[in-house]
Amino acid sequence: MRKRSADLAKIKPSEITPEDQYLSRRALLAGGIGLAAAQTLGGFARPAIGQSAGPPTALTYARNTAFSVKDAPNSYADISTYNNYYEFGTGKSDPSENAQNFRTRPWNVAVSGEAEVTGNFTLEDIIKPHPLEERVYRLRCVEAWSMVIPWVGFPLRDLLNRFKPTANAKFVEFKTLFDPKQMPGQRTRVLEWPYVEGLRMDEAMHPLALMAIGLYGKWLPNQNGAPLRLIVPWKYGFKGIKAIVGIRFVQRAPRTTWAGSAVNEYGFYANVNPEVDHPRWSQATERRIGANAFGPRQPTLPFNGYAAQVASLYSGMDLRKNF
Ligand code: MTE
Repeated sequence: MRKRSADLAKIKPSEITPEDQYLSRRALLAGGIGLAAAQTLGGFARPAIGQSAGPPTALTYARNTAFSVKDAPNSYADISTYNNYYEFGTGKSDPSENAQNFRTRPWNVAVSGEAEVTGNFTLEDIIKPHPLEERVYRLRCVEAWSMVIPWVGFPLRDLLNRFKPTANAKFVEFKTLFDPKQMPGQRTRVLEWPYVEGLRMDEAMHPLALMAIGLYGKWLPNQNGAPLRLIVPWKYGFKGIKAIVGIRFVQRAPRTTWAGSAVNEYGFYANVNPEVDHPRWSQATERRIGANAFGPRQPTLPFNGYAAQVASLYSGMDLRKNF
């Protein structure tokens, strides 16, 4: 996040997948994947014959149109080569270059804290019971760029409810893997490691909050947070923690990585608020990555356009202070 001007200069006018191409690809998927659907085992599509072990390329899911925006999605190339994942470097193309050999299987998630069901769960335990859906969400980065991404995942609240949080659970904390051997960025002090994020319980239970395992109908590429990552579309992108290995139910607001490193720049709530400038730049407008990266900027919408659904979560709060 710190190398903003240098990074912006690096944006390639990469192609956007035209929506018609994307839709016809989806129609293909819907038809061709009928077979995969028949092979699905609790949300897991088995590898087709001849495919190597490990996650198959296609996922079985249904698009949630009610929760999808109409904006044209960015191309797979844009989404998978331009993002922030400091564990693999601070440059926008670093994650796609440095995360290729990152091992995401086997994978475990430790669940702890104020809940009746805690312990270690395999990735399969985490994913299996959940029907998968595709949701096309806008992503608004705190660095004032944005994208539109067709995620595949399941509602965060459905997962959290399986752990039966107690009345003491007021917040939920998420933690990324700490493995400096695999994550070269963790050998530097650019951030405090491991990366930590958190939500208030009612935010986490909001139906828009998504646990993603895929994008564009495929399992997540490593650079986008495989095998499990959070998407909270009304908040700045840094809430969307990647490669999650820990979920902890807590009574107090967790110390999150970005708020911990610069509380005056990255607040805990991180709700997209075009009226509150970042101390070093305006949040009033944004640059949509893709074909129009050098075109006019567009206005940023309160709560990233999701105000009708989420503004009530914050009634009575001063969102200039609780930014
Ligand atoms: N998660 C981890 N573990 N490490 C990171 O550096 N960066 C965040 C978020 N999640 C980050 C992270 C930021 S700043 C953004 S904008 C999003 O990931 C961007 O990634 P995406 O485009 O894949 O959503």
